Amino acid sequence: MSDTPRFLAACRGERLDRPPLWLMRQAGRYMPEYQKVREAAGSFMNLCRTPDLCVEVTMQPIKRFGFDAAILFSDILVPAEAMGAEVEFVTGEGPKIRNPFRTEADLERFHSPDPREAAPYVFEAIRGIREVLGSETPLIGFVGAPFTLMCYMVEGGGSKNFEHTKELVLGRPELADKLIDLITTYSIEHAVAEIEAGAQAIQLFDTWAELLSPPAWRRFCLAPANRFFREVRARTSDAVPRIYFSKGGGAQLADLGEIESEVLSIDWRLDIGRAREALPGRVLQGNLDPLNLYAGPEATKRRTNEILAQTNGQQHVFNLGHGILPKTPHESVDALVEAVHNFRAE
Ligand code: CP3
Repeated sequence: MSDTPRFLAACRGERLDRPPLWLMRQAGRYMPEYQKVREAAGSFMNLCRTPDLCVEVTMQPIKRFGFDAAILFSDILVPAEAMGAEVEFVTGEGPKIRNPFRTEADLERFHSPDPREAAPYVFEAIRGIREVLGSETPLIGFVGAPFTLMCYMVEGGGSKNFEHTKELVLGRPELADKLIDLITTYSIEHAVAEIEAGAQAIQLFDTWAELLSPPAWRRFCLAPANRFFREVRARTSDAVPRIYFSKGGGAQLADLGEIESEVLSIDWRLDIGRAREALPGRVLQGNLDPLNLYAGPEATKRRTNEILAQTNGQQHVFNLGHGILPKTPHESVDALVEAVHNFRAE
C-alpha cells in the first residue's frame, strides 16, 4: 500500500484492503466528553467560535474510535452568520435565524465578506487541528451546500416543509437565484480559506436537496454545487478531494453523476449496489442508516457487512447515510469500527 492516508487513497479510487471509515457528525452529543466541553462553552455558537475547544472536540472521536479522517468542528450556520444572519441555537428547538431572508430588499442585509476576517476562529481551529492530528488522519473541511444554507436563511430555522423557501424557489426563482449566487460566492471563499488553513478534503452538505423536484434540483442544487466545486478546484490543489452529500439523492440518481466531485455521499435509502451501477467509476461514501446503530451492535455489524460485501471495499468511503444521532450506543459504534477494520477485500 502507498503512504497516502487511507481516506485520501480511497477518494482517489486506489485499490485498498479495506475502506476508510469516518462518520458524519462524529463529534457530538452521543459522546460524554463532547457534552462536557459543550456545557462548559455555554452556547453552541460560542463553542464554534473558540478554536481551542473546536480542536479538542474534533479530536475526541479520533482518540476514542480511531476513525480514518477527522472533520472540522464547526457548523454550516457559521457561514450564514458571517454573511449577516443572526444565528442562535435554542435548546430543544435547533437553530434559529432571527432575521430571515424574505424579500428583494433583504439582499441589502446579506453580503459576502472575507471569511478570514468574518470568521477567523474557523481557520485558527483548522491550523490547531493539523498541529495535533497524525499524518495518517486527514482533516475534512466543509460548508453547507448553497440550497441547504438557503433553507435556513429563508425559513429562519428548521422546518418540516420549508414553506417559505419553496414559495421563494418556485414562485420567485430569479430572487432565489440572487440569494443562491451570494451564498455560493461566500461559500467558495470560505472553503478556499479552509483549504489554505490546512483542510485536506472538502464536503458540501446538501441535507435539504431532497425537498426539490428534478428541475428545481438542477437549478438550485446541481448548478451551484458545480460552480462551487469548479471554482474551489481552480483556486486550490488537485490533491483536495471534493465530496457531495445529499440526503434523498437517490431521487436524482439519473442526474447525480453530473455533480463534479470525486466522491458522492449517499443516504441509506439508496441501495449502494444500484448507485454503483448508475454511477460507474465514482467513489461512493455511505450509507449505513444512522438508526441502525440504535438497534444494537449485532444489527449494526450485520448491515455493515452487507454493505461491505456489495462494494468489496473498493471506491468506497464507509460512512453513515446521515449524521450520527445523539442517543447512539457506543457499543454499536465499536461494532461498526470492528466490522470495517476486520473486512478484507477479495
Ligand atoms: O460532522 C462533524 O462532527 C462536524 C461538525 C458538524 C456539526 N454540524 C456540529 C453540530 C457538521 C459537519 C454539521 C453540519 C450541519 N449542521 C448540517 C448538515 C448535516 C446534517 O446533519 O444534516 C446541518 C443541517 C446543520 C445545522 C444544525 N446544527 C442543526 C439542525 C443543529 C441542531 C439539531 C441537531 O441535529 O443537532 C445543529 C447543531 C449542531 N451542529 C450540533 C453539533 C455537534 C449539536 C448542538 C449541541 O451540541 O447542542
